[in-house]
Amino acid sequence: MKIVSTVVDLRDALRNSKSQSFVPTMGNLHAGHLSLIEQARMVGDCCVASIFVNPLQFGANEDFGSYPRTMDRDCELLEEKGCDLLFAPTIGDLYPEPQTFKLHPDPALADILEGEFRPGFFTGVATVVMKLFQCVFAHAAQPGHAFFGQKDFQQLLIVQRMVQQFALPITVHAVPTSRDFDGLALSSRNGYLSQEERREATALSQALELIRGAVLAGGGDLEGLCAKQIENLRTRGWQPDYLTVRRQADLQRPAQSDTDLVVLGAARLGRTRLIDNMLMNRGSA
Ligand code: PAF
Repeated sequence: MKIVSTVVDLRDALRNSKSQSFVPTMGNLHAGHLSLIEQARMVGDCCVASIFVNPLQFGANEDFGSYPRTMDRDCELLEEKGCDLLFAPTIGDLYPEPQTFKLHPDPALADILEGEFRPGFFTGVATVVMKLFQCVFAHAAQPGHAFFGQKDFQQLLIVQRMVQQFALPITVHAVPTSRDFDGLALSSRNGYLSQEERREATALSQALELIRGAVLAGGGDLEGLCAKQIENLRTRGWQPDYLTVRRQADLQRPAQSDTDLVVLGAARLGRTRLIDNMLMNRGSA
């Protein structure tokens, strides 16, 4: 695997490839990221990953400084999985001058849920993803392929909408969430959990599963179902930000007739903030 850190070297390394598949990450790779790489390897002639902890998407009180940086191990894992090229820029490489031009996604999609609790988060994400797409795909001879995990469902929708509205020649592939043995969604932030918290952490996916089961069994009082699980998490010592059932297409509250739904949740356990979601189709119940 070739490793480059500058945009010039990246473009040079891509000169002879016709179609790229791309997996953007912030590193500290786990099996979820590796499943994105596996999917990416199946299309295109060059599988590119990026590792960049993007300061634009962290709030002032968030974990930018302590976000786990494990470059050597990440490189080994990418190499083992058959990734061809790693783009690992420094902040100065990707933002040689302050990034004052930013991409602001539609507030109807970006200022709710994660965006409500992490103001500016999706502006940071959309800006860096657009920039990474420019770096990786700008000179591609054929349409590109980009891979995102469904675990960050709101991020995935925003990237899909961005690609669509800017007519980018990129297919966005959504890859199902990878889970640990007890259902906990894999995340780099799981590493912050103490042993005791790790045992408790499964309660979030269990809460989402209970809501999903109740909706599929015909439960119509979505707010009531979520409120019950929020209360249950609080009793167990969590600080929930939201648990809510939304439409998959636009994350708005569903009408009776909407069938493709997603239950999303975010909650803090000690100092760790976890998010998760589960898709459902109540037409098929
Ligand atoms: O999901 C992530 O790891 C990040 O938000 C991304 C897409 C790599 C942008 O920094």
